[in-house]
Amino acid sequence: MIYRHLLRPALFNVAGRDAEAIHERVLGMLARVSESPRLTRGLARFAALAWPGDQGRPREVFGLRFPHPIGLAAGFDKNARAVPALAALGFGFVEIGTITQQAQPGNPRPRLFRLPSDEALINRMGFNNDGADVIAKRLARQTEATVPLGISLGKSKVTPLEDAVSDYLASLDRLYPWADYFAVNVSSPNTPGLRALQERDWLDALLAALQMRLRERAQAEGEGARVKPLLVKVAPDLDEAALDDLVEVCLARAASGLIAVNTTVSREALSAAVPATLRDEPGGLSGRPLHTRAAEVVRLLAKRTEGRLPIIGCGGVFTVDDAQRLLDAGASLLQLYTSFIYEGPGIARRLAHGLAQVAAESGAFLG
Ligand SMILES: Cc1cc2nc3c(=O)[nH]c(=O)nc-3n(C[C@H](O)[C@H](O)[C@H](O)COP(=O)(O)O)c2cc1C
Repeated sequence: MIYRHLLRPALFNVAGRDAEAIHERVLGMLARVSESPRLTRGLARFAALAWPGDQGRPREVFGLRFPHPIGLAAGFDKNARAVPALAALGFGFVEIGTITQQAQPGNPRPRLFRLPSDEALINRMGFNNDGADVIAKRLARQTEATVPLGISLGKSKVTPLEDAVSDYLASLDRLYPWADYFAVNVSSPNTPGLRALQERDWLDALLAALQMRLRERAQAEGEGARVKPLLVKVAPDLDEAALDDLVEVCLARAASGLIAVNTTVSREALSAAVPATLRDEPGGLSGRPLHTRAAEVVRLLAKRTEGRLPIIGCGGVFTVDDAQRLLDAGASLLQLYTSFIYEGPGIARRLAHGLAQVAAESGAFLG
Protein backbone atom coordinates (compact mmCIF):
# COMPACT_ATOMS: atom_id res chain seq x y z
CA MET A 1 0.00 0.00 0.00
CA ILE A 2 2.67 2.47 1.09
CA TYR A 3 4.75 1.62 -1.96
CA ARG A 4 1.88 1.87 -4.46
CA HIS A 5 0.41 5.09 -3.11
CA LEU A 6 3.41 7.03 -1.82
CA LEU A 7 6.75 5.68 -2.91
CA ARG A 8 5.90 4.58 -6.44
CA PRO A 9 4.45 7.91 -7.56
CA ALA A 10 7.47 9.66 -6.06
CA LEU A 11 9.94 7.30 -7.71
CA PHE A 12 8.20 7.41 -11.08
CA ASN A 13 8.29 11.21 -10.94
CA VAL A 14 11.87 11.67 -9.75
CA ALA A 15 13.20 10.10 -12.89
CA GLY A 16 10.85 12.12 -15.05
CA ARG A 17 10.81 10.76 -18.53
CA ASP A 18 13.77 8.39 -18.14
CA ALA A 19 12.56 5.18 -16.52
CA GLU A 20 16.08 3.78 -16.63
CA ALA A 21 17.45 6.49 -14.33
CA ILE A 22 15.29 5.34 -11.43
CA HIS A 23 16.23 1.75 -12.07
CA GLU A 24 19.89 2.73 -11.79
CA ARG A 25 19.32 4.61 -8.53
CA VAL A 26 17.47 1.73 -6.91
CA LEU A 27 20.03 -0.80 -8.12
CA GLY A 28 22.82 1.48 -6.85
CA MET A 29 21.26 1.48 -3.37
CA LEU A 30 20.86 -2.30 -3.40
CA ALA A 31 24.48 -2.63 -4.59
CA ARG A 32 25.71 -0.52 -1.66
CA VAL A 33 23.72 -2.67 0.78
CA SER A 34 25.18 -5.78 -0.87
CA GLU A 35 28.73 -4.61 -0.17
CA SER A 36 28.11 -4.75 3.60
CA PRO A 37 27.12 -8.03 5.26
CA ARG A 38 25.82 -5.98 8.21
CA LEU A 39 23.53 -3.85 6.01
CA THR A 40 22.40 -6.96 4.12
CA ARG A 41 21.42 -8.68 7.37
CA GLY A 42 19.64 -5.47 8.44
CA LEU A 43 17.69 -5.37 5.19
CA ALA A 44 16.65 -9.02 5.62
CA ARG A 45 15.41 -8.27 9.17
CA PHE A 46 13.53 -5.20 7.95
CA ALA A 47 11.91 -7.16 5.09
CA ALA A 48 10.78 -9.91 7.45
CA LEU A 49 9.14 -7.30 9.71
CA ALA A 50 7.59 -5.26 6.89
CA TRP A 51 6.24 -8.27 4.98
CA PRO A 52 5.81 -10.94 7.63
CA GLY A 53 4.52 -14.47 7.33
CA ASP A 54 5.50 -18.04 6.64
CA GLN A 55 7.42 -18.25 3.35
CA GLY A 56 6.49 -21.85 2.62
CA ARG A 57 8.52 -24.99 2.34
CA PRO A 58 11.75 -25.47 0.38
CA ARG A 59 11.50 -27.42 -2.84
CA GLU A 60 14.03 -29.27 -4.94
CA VAL A 61 14.03 -28.59 -8.68
CA PHE A 62 16.70 -29.77 -11.15
CA GLY A 63 18.78 -30.89 -8.21
CA LEU A 64 18.84 -27.48 -6.48
CA ARG A 65 17.10 -26.52 -3.28
CA PHE A 66 14.89 -23.42 -3.44
CA PRO A 67 13.51 -21.84 -0.23
CA HIS A 68 10.29 -20.98 -2.10
CA PRO A 69 9.27 -20.69 -5.76
CA ILE A 70 9.46 -16.90 -6.32
CA GLY A 71 12.65 -15.76 -8.09
CA LEU A 72 13.87 -12.58 -9.74
CA ALA A 73 13.96 -12.80 -13.55
CA ALA A 74 16.99 -11.93 -15.67
CA GLY A 75 17.54 -8.32 -16.66
CA PHE A 76 17.08 -6.55 -13.33
CA ASP A 77 20.61 -7.16 -12.05
CA LYS A 78 22.45 -7.61 -15.32
CA ASN A 79 25.89 -7.07 -13.78
CA ALA A 80 25.54 -9.01 -10.51
CA ARG A 81 25.88 -5.94 -8.31
CA ALA A 82 23.05 -6.60 -5.86
CA VAL A 83 22.49 -10.33 -5.37
CA PRO A 84 22.87 -10.34 -1.54
CA ALA A 85 20.38 -7.46 -1.14
CA LEU A 86 17.90 -9.07 -3.53
CA ALA A 87 18.09 -12.31 -1.54
CA ALA A 88 17.60 -10.25 1.64
CA LEU A 89 14.41 -8.78 0.15
CA GLY A 90 13.11 -12.33 -0.02
CA PHE A 91 13.66 -13.63 -3.53
CA GLY A 92 13.98 -17.42 -3.44
CA PHE A 93 16.52 -17.31 -6.27
CA VAL A 94 18.07 -14.67 -8.47
CA GLU A 95 19.00 -14.85 -12.14
CA ILE A 96 21.71 -12.36 -13.11
CA GLY A 97 22.50 -11.18 -16.64
CA THR A 98 21.99 -11.55 -19.46
CA ILE A 99 25.78 -11.55 -19.67
CA THR A 100 27.71 -11.57 -22.94
CA GLN A 101 31.35 -12.47 -23.49
CA GLN A 102 32.17 -8.88 -24.49
CA ALA A 103 31.17 -5.84 -22.47
CA GLN A 104 28.66 -3.84 -24.49
CA PRO A 105 26.70 -0.58 -24.03
CA GLY A 106 23.36 -1.82 -25.38
CA ASN A 107 21.03 0.30 -27.48
CA PRO A 108 20.87 4.12 -27.33
CA ARG A 109 18.61 5.65 -24.67
CA PRO A 110 15.74 5.98 -24.10
CA ARG A 111 15.26 2.22 -24.23
CA LEU A 112 12.97 1.50 -21.27
CA PHE A 113 9.36 2.73 -21.22
CA ARG A 114 6.64 2.51 -18.56
CA LEU A 115 3.02 1.84 -19.53
CA PRO A 116 1.36 2.55 -16.17
CA SER A 117 -2.24 2.18 -17.40
CA ASP A 118 -1.48 -1.47 -18.22
CA GLU A 119 1.19 -2.08 -15.56
CA ALA A 120 3.62 -3.00 -18.29
CA LEU A 121 7.07 -2.09 -19.59
CA ILE A 122 8.58 -1.99 -23.05
CA ASN A 123 12.36 -2.38 -23.21
CA ARG A 124 14.98 -2.57 -25.92
CA MET A 125 18.01 -2.52 -23.63
CA GLY A 126 20.04 -4.75 -25.98
CA PHE A 127 22.11 -6.71 -23.42
CA ASN A 128 23.92 -3.74 -21.91
CA ASN A 129 26.39 -5.40 -19.50
CA ASP A 130 29.95 -5.28 -18.18
CA GLY A 131 30.95 -8.52 -19.94
CA ALA A 132 31.74 -11.98 -18.54
CA ASP A 133 35.25 -11.16 -17.33
CA VAL A 134 34.40 -8.11 -15.19
CA ILE A 135 31.28 -9.78 -13.79
CA ALA A 136 33.22 -12.94 -12.88
CA LYS A 137 35.69 -10.79 -10.91
CA ARG A 138 32.78 -9.04 -9.16
CA LEU A 139 31.19 -12.37 -8.22
CA ALA A 140 34.53 -13.58 -6.85
CA ARG A 141 34.59 -10.63 -4.42
CA GLN A 142 31.00 -11.11 -3.19
CA THR A 143 29.99 -13.16 -0.18
CA GLU A 144 28.37 -16.37 -1.30
CA ALA A 145 24.70 -16.03 -2.22
CA THR A 146 22.24 -17.47 0.27
CA VAL A 147 19.82 -18.50 -2.50
CA PRO A 148 20.44 -20.31 -5.79
CA LEU A 149 22.09 -18.08 -8.39
CA GLY A 150 21.18 -18.44 -12.05
CA ILE A 151 23.41 -16.93 -14.73
CA SER A 152 21.79 -15.94 -18.01
CA LEU A 153 24.10 -16.13 -21.02
CA GLY A 154 23.62 -14.30 -24.31
CA LYS A 155 25.49 -13.63 -27.53
CA SER A 156 27.66 -10.52 -27.88
CA LYS A 157 26.22 -8.18 -30.49
CA VAL A 158 29.47 -8.03 -32.48
CA THR A 159 29.69 -11.83 -32.75
CA PRO A 160 28.15 -13.21 -35.94
CA LEU A 161 25.52 -15.91 -35.51
CA GLU A 162 27.92 -18.51 -36.97
CA ASP A 163 30.31 -17.92 -34.04
CA ALA A 164 27.59 -17.85 -31.37
CA VAL A 165 28.62 -21.19 -29.86
CA SER A 166 32.17 -20.11 -29.00
CA ASP A 167 30.82 -16.81 -27.64
CA TYR A 168 28.43 -18.58 -25.21
CA LEU A 169 31.15 -21.11 -24.28
CA ALA A 170 33.63 -18.37 -23.40
CA SER A 171 31.10 -16.74 -21.05
CA LEU A 172 30.19 -20.08 -19.49
CA ASP A 173 33.86 -20.86 -18.82
CA ARG A 174 34.53 -17.50 -17.23
CA LEU A 175 31.42 -17.55 -15.00
CA TYR A 176 31.30 -21.27 -14.23
CA PRO A 177 32.32 -21.30 -10.55
CA TRP A 178 29.49 -19.01 -9.42
CA ALA A 179 26.48 -20.42 -11.24
CA ASP A 180 24.05 -22.78 -9.58
CA TYR A 181 22.38 -23.00 -12.99
CA PHE A 182 22.90 -21.47 -16.40
CA ALA A 183 20.11 -20.08 -18.60
CA VAL A 184 20.65 -19.85 -22.34
CA ASN A 185 18.99 -16.72 -23.56
CA VAL A 186 18.02 -17.23 -27.19
CA SER A 187 14.75 -15.35 -26.87
CA SER A 188 15.48 -11.65 -26.36
CA PRO A 189 13.91 -9.56 -29.14
CA ASN A 190 16.59 -6.87 -28.77
CA THR A 191 19.70 -8.48 -30.26
CA PRO A 192 19.35 -8.75 -34.03
CA GLY A 193 19.21 -12.40 -35.17
CA LEU A 194 19.39 -13.85 -31.65
CA ARG A 195 16.03 -15.58 -31.77
CA ALA A 196 17.14 -17.62 -34.79
CA LEU A 197 19.09 -19.63 -32.19
CA GLN A 198 15.75 -21.05 -31.03
CA GLU A 199 15.46 -22.87 -34.35
CA ARG A 200 16.13 -26.59 -34.36
CA ASP A 201 19.63 -26.80 -35.89
CA TRP A 202 21.10 -23.74 -34.22
CA LEU A 203 19.72 -24.70 -30.83
CA ASP A 204 20.90 -28.28 -31.20
CA ALA A 205 24.48 -27.19 -31.92
CA LEU A 206 24.45 -24.66 -29.09
CA LEU A 207 23.02 -27.02 -26.46
CA ALA A 208 25.30 -29.88 -27.51
CA ALA A 209 28.39 -27.71 -27.07
CA LEU A 210 27.29 -26.19 -23.76
CA GLN A 211 26.30 -29.57 -22.30
CA MET A 212 29.60 -31.10 -23.32
CA ARG A 213 31.49 -28.26 -21.63
CA LEU A 214 29.39 -28.57 -18.46
CA ARG A 215 30.12 -32.31 -18.34
CA GLU A 216 33.85 -31.70 -18.84
CA ARG A 217 33.87 -29.12 -16.06
CA ALA A 218 32.06 -31.47 -13.68
CA GLN A 219 34.50 -34.28 -14.51
CA ALA A 220 37.44 -31.96 -13.87
CA GLU A 221 36.00 -31.16 -10.45
CA GLY A 222 36.35 -34.82 -9.55
CA GLU A 223 34.37 -37.85 -8.59
CA GLY A 224 30.76 -37.16 -7.67
CA ALA A 225 30.65 -33.54 -8.89
CA ARG A 226 27.25 -32.70 -10.33
CA VAL A 227 26.78 -31.40 -13.85
CA LYS A 228 25.34 -27.90 -13.45
CA PRO A 229 21.79 -27.47 -14.78
CA LEU A 230 21.32 -25.79 -18.16
CA LEU A 231 17.97 -24.13 -18.91
CA VAL A 232 16.61 -22.60 -22.10
CA LYS A 233 14.59 -19.38 -22.05
CA VAL A 234 11.73 -19.31 -24.50
CA ALA A 235 10.07 -16.45 -26.41
CA PRO A 236 6.28 -16.14 -26.12
CA ASP A 237 6.07 -15.37 -29.83
CA LEU A 238 6.92 -18.89 -31.04
CA ASP A 239 4.02 -20.76 -32.61
CA GLU A 240 3.08 -24.27 -31.58
CA ALA A 241 5.23 -25.98 -34.22
CA ALA A 242 8.30 -23.97 -33.22
CA LEU A 243 7.66 -24.75 -29.53
CA ASP A 244 7.41 -28.45 -30.44
CA ASP A 245 10.76 -28.30 -32.22
CA LEU A 246 12.34 -26.52 -29.30
CA VAL A 247 11.05 -29.08 -26.79
CA GLU A 248 12.32 -31.94 -28.93
CA VAL A 249 15.83 -30.47 -29.08
CA CYS A 250 15.84 -29.67 -25.35
CA LEU A 251 14.83 -33.24 -24.51
CA ALA A 252 17.33 -34.76 -26.96
CA ARG A 253 20.14 -32.62 -25.55
CA ALA A 254 19.10 -33.30 -21.96
CA ALA A 255 18.48 -29.68 -21.01
CA SER A 256 17.54 -29.41 -17.34
CA GLY A 257 14.55 -27.14 -17.78
CA LEU A 258 12.80 -24.28 -19.55
CA ILE A 259 12.08 -20.68 -18.63
CA ALA A 260 8.82 -19.46 -20.13
CA VAL A 261 8.61 -16.66 -21.14
CA ASN A 262 10.78 -13.74 -22.27
CA THR A 263 9.20 -10.43 -23.37
CA THR A 264 6.89 -10.30 -26.39
CA VAL A 265 7.05 -8.25 -29.58
CA SER A 266 3.25 -8.48 -29.83
CA ARG A 267 1.15 -5.49 -28.74
CA GLU A 268 -2.20 -7.28 -29.03
CA ALA A 269 -2.88 -7.51 -25.31
CA LEU A 270 -2.40 -3.78 -24.67
CA SER A 271 -5.45 -1.72 -23.73
CA ALA A 272 -6.70 1.31 -25.65
CA ALA A 273 -5.41 3.49 -22.79
CA VAL A 274 -1.84 3.11 -24.06
CA PRO A 275 -0.90 6.00 -26.36
CA ALA A 276 -0.01 4.93 -29.91
CA THR A 277 3.46 6.47 -29.61
CA LEU A 278 4.26 4.16 -26.69
CA ARG A 279 2.61 1.11 -28.19
CA ASP A 280 4.79 1.53 -31.28
CA GLU A 281 8.10 1.77 -29.41
CA PRO A 282 10.19 -1.16 -30.67
CA GLY A 283 11.20 -3.69 -28.03
CA GLY A 284 9.87 -6.40 -25.75
CA LEU A 285 6.68 -5.98 -23.74
CA SER A 286 6.48 -7.33 -20.17
CA GLY A 287 4.09 -7.16 -17.24
CA ARG A 288 0.35 -7.73 -16.91
CA PRO A 289 -0.48 -7.91 -20.64
CA LEU A 290 1.99 -10.81 -21.00
CA HIS A 291 0.42 -13.00 -18.35
CA THR A 292 -2.27 -14.80 -20.38
CA ARG A 293 0.24 -15.79 -23.07
CA ALA A 294 2.79 -16.84 -20.43
CA ALA A 295 0.23 -19.20 -18.87
CA GLU A 296 -0.63 -20.56 -22.32
CA VAL A 297 3.01 -21.28 -23.20
CA VAL A 298 3.71 -22.88 -19.80
CA ARG A 299 0.66 -25.14 -20.24
CA LEU A 300 1.71 -26.12 -23.74
CA LEU A 301 5.30 -26.85 -22.73
CA ALA A 302 4.19 -28.85 -19.68
CA LYS A 303 1.94 -30.96 -21.90
CA ARG A 304 4.61 -31.54 -24.54
CA THR A 305 7.35 -32.39 -22.04
CA GLU A 306 5.03 -34.52 -19.87
CA GLY A 307 6.79 -33.24 -16.82
CA ARG A 308 10.25 -34.35 -18.00
CA LEU A 309 11.56 -30.77 -18.07
CA PRO A 310 10.83 -28.54 -15.09
CA ILE A 311 9.52 -25.12 -16.11
CA ILE A 312 10.17 -21.73 -14.56
CA GLY A 313 7.02 -19.72 -15.30
CA CYS A 314 7.54 -16.01 -15.95
CA GLY A 315 5.40 -13.20 -17.30
CA GLY A 316 3.04 -10.77 -15.59
CA VAL A 317 3.01 -12.39 -12.16
CA PHE A 318 1.59 -9.68 -9.89
CA THR A 319 -0.72 -11.52 -7.50
CA VAL A 320 -0.94 -14.84 -5.65
CA ASP A 321 -3.64 -15.86 -8.16
CA ASP A 322 -1.27 -15.14 -11.06
CA ALA A 323 1.47 -17.16 -9.38
CA GLN A 324 -0.90 -20.04 -8.68
CA ARG A 325 -2.13 -19.91 -12.30
CA LEU A 326 1.36 -20.54 -13.67
CA LEU A 327 1.99 -23.28 -11.10
CA ASP A 328 -1.33 -24.91 -12.06
CA ALA A 329 -0.31 -24.64 -15.73
CA GLY A 330 2.71 -26.77 -14.94
CA ALA A 331 5.48 -24.50 -13.64
CA SER A 332 7.69 -25.69 -10.77
CA LEU A 333 9.20 -22.28 -10.04
CA LEU A 334 8.33 -18.68 -10.92
CA GLN A 335 10.16 -15.50 -11.83
CA LEU A 336 9.10 -11.88 -12.03
CA TYR A 337 10.53 -8.54 -13.03
CA THR A 338 7.86 -5.96 -13.97
CA SER A 339 5.74 -6.45 -10.85
CA PHE A 340 8.84 -5.68 -8.76
CA ILE A 341 8.78 -2.20 -10.36
CA TYR A 342 5.01 -1.70 -9.96
CA GLU A 343 4.37 -3.45 -6.65
CA GLY A 344 7.61 -2.68 -4.83
CA PRO A 345 10.27 -4.44 -2.78
CA GLY A 346 7.89 -6.63 -0.74
CA ILE A 347 6.55 -8.55 -3.74
CA ALA A 348 8.63 -11.73 -3.35
CA ARG A 349 7.84 -12.18 0.34
CA ARG A 350 4.16 -11.34 -0.16
CA LEU A 351 3.74 -13.84 -3.00
CA ALA A 352 5.73 -16.57 -1.22
CA HIS A 353 3.54 -16.10 1.84
CA GLY A 354 0.35 -16.12 -0.23
CA LEU A 355 1.35 -19.36 -1.96
CA ALA A 356 2.25 -20.92 1.39
CA GLN A 357 -1.23 -20.02 2.66
CA VAL A 358 -2.89 -21.52 -0.42
CA ALA A 359 -0.86 -24.71 0.05
CA ALA A 360 -1.74 -24.86 3.75
CA GLU A 361 -5.45 -24.35 3.05
CA SER A 362 -5.61 -26.93 0.26
CA GLY A 363 -3.61 -29.33 2.46
CA ALA A 364 -6.11 -28.80 5.27
CA PHE A 365 -8.97 -29.25 2.84
CA LEU A 366 -7.53 -32.47 1.47
CA GLY A 367 -6.57 -33.70 4.93
C1 LIG B 1 14.04 -3.89 -18.59
C2 LIG B 1 14.04 -5.37 -18.82
C3 LIG B 1 15.24 -6.00 -19.15
C4 LIG B 1 15.25 -7.38 -19.37
N1 LIG B 1 16.44 -7.99 -19.67
C5 LIG B 1 16.47 -9.34 -19.82
C6 LIG B 1 17.70 -10.00 -20.04
O1 LIG B 1 18.77 -9.40 -20.07
N2 LIG B 1 17.67 -11.35 -20.20
C7 LIG B 1 16.49 -12.08 -20.15
O2 LIG B 1 16.54 -13.30 -20.29
N3 LIG B 1 15.32 -11.46 -19.93
C8 LIG B 1 15.29 -10.12 -19.75
N4 LIG B 1 14.09 -9.51 -19.51
C9 LIG B 1 12.84 -10.31 -19.51
C10 LIG B 1 12.46 -10.76 -18.10
O3 LIG B 1 13.43 -11.60 -17.53
C11 LIG B 1 11.12 -11.52 -18.14
O4 LIG B 1 11.27 -12.67 -18.93
C12 LIG B 1 9.99 -10.68 -18.74
O5 LIG B 1 10.09 -9.33 -18.34
C13 LIG B 1 8.60 -11.22 -18.33
O6 LIG B 1 8.41 -11.17 -16.95
P1 LIG B 1 7.64 -9.98 -16.19
O7 LIG B 1 6.34 -9.77 -16.89
O8 LIG B 1 7.51 -10.45 -14.76
O9 LIG B 1 8.52 -8.78 -16.29
C14 LIG B 1 14.05 -8.12 -19.28
C15 LIG B 1 12.86 -7.49 -18.93
C16 LIG B 1 12.84 -6.12 -18.70
C17 LIG B 1 11.55 -5.45 -18.34
